Amino acid sequence: MYINFWYPIARATEVTADKPLKVRLLGLPFVAFRDQDGAAHVLADTCVHRGGSLGAGWVRDNCVVCPYHGWRFAGDGKCVLVPSLGAETKPPPRAKVDSYPVQERYGIVFAFLGDLPAEERPPLYDIAEFGTPEWKSHLYVLDLAAYYERSMENGLDPIHNEFVHPLQGAPLLSPELQRTPLPIEDIPWGSKFYMTFGAKRTHDTKLADAKTGERLGAAGSWHQGPNQLVTWIDLTATNSFHQYLFEAPVDENNTRLFFLNMRNWLLDDKHDQRISDVTLQIVHEDIRILENLNPVRTPDTNTREVLVPGDYGAVRYREWLKKWDARGWRIDTKALRAKQGDVAMAIPCPARRESGNWVLETVPLLPGSPAAAAEKRA
Ligand code: FES
Ligand SMILES: [Fe+2]
Repeated sequence: MYINFWYPIARATEVTADKPLKVRLLGLPFVAFRDQDGAAHVLADTCVHRGGSLGAGWVRDNCVVCPYHGWRFAGDGKCVLVPSLGAETKPPPRAKVDSYPVQERYGIVFAFLGDLPAEERPPLYDIAEFGTPEWKSHLYVLDLAAYYERSMENGLDPIHNEFVHPLQGAPLLSPELQRTPLPIEDIPWGSKFYMTFGAKRTHDTKLADAKTGERLGAAGSWHQGPNQLVTWIDLTATNSFHQYLFEAPVDENNTRLFFLNMRNWLLDDKHDQRISDVTLQIVHEDIRILENLNPVRTPDTNTREVLVPGDYGAVRYREWLKKWDARGWRIDTKALRAKQGDVAMAIPCPARRESGNWVLETVPLLPGSPAAAAEKRA
């Protein structure tokens, strides 16, 4: 799990001005709420007074109010009122919690969980077709009792379709393609494969283009950052499913999936139910596999598994993770686990680069490589 990327926090409709929403990500608690202008805010959940959970409090005057002694925290994380000191007394300067940059897109509230300044932040994936009249989209939010990197690798693995989804019309690879290393290319912050499938499908699918009888045109998957996955299934030149998966690592064993399924055909509402049924069936087939993997986390070296050409998507993904390890962005989960319960910790927010005096301890990070640090400075 990494700091310094965009993470999905909640459905936009779940974040309200009525009640704060407590969520867990990267092994830590966060709180989300809205102010009266409708802007969403995401803060560290731990009140710096004596550890109250802000998410268990309420929203008043554009602030989240701690339920223990009523301290009020504004959207920027600063405490604006300590009731026991009186409204005339300025709260102590250390009375602040981390506040994270927010973007609201695709019906999801995203937060940048890290301290990079705006110009250095890896991007939130831009879905160009979202919201255009040619495309219909549906957002699913699903909980997975598995580690998010395993789920990402599953999305970058075209070989499993034949075995995990034999009945669902997912794209299949011909035997020749299965033996050929995946044609992986790097993209900004990730890697991608996209292939034309000449082979006839081995299973009939209800989703084939009725007019042309064409089955499968091209398909591919790519990742941007450690937790954003794209799969395009372009059945014909005009009939596509585009799937966007934004993964929220809850902790080392659990993931919340924000899964946006988009299509530019079968747009009539009467198709919604069938498409939803098939989509969820596929997702649950994946979930059944992922929740039973051993070990739960991706092994730290590839020698602990026997990898074949069809695994190159996962291999390249792991190489990208190593780059972010080198930058010192990986959370030291063992140290985090050891301290939890004794020390309140938070992901550092960008304001920590501008001011000191923070009460919550920064989440422990694994050391990066000096070379990567030097490269960053250059
Ligand atoms: S612990 Fe939050 S106000 Fe006291
Ligand atoms: Fe799958």
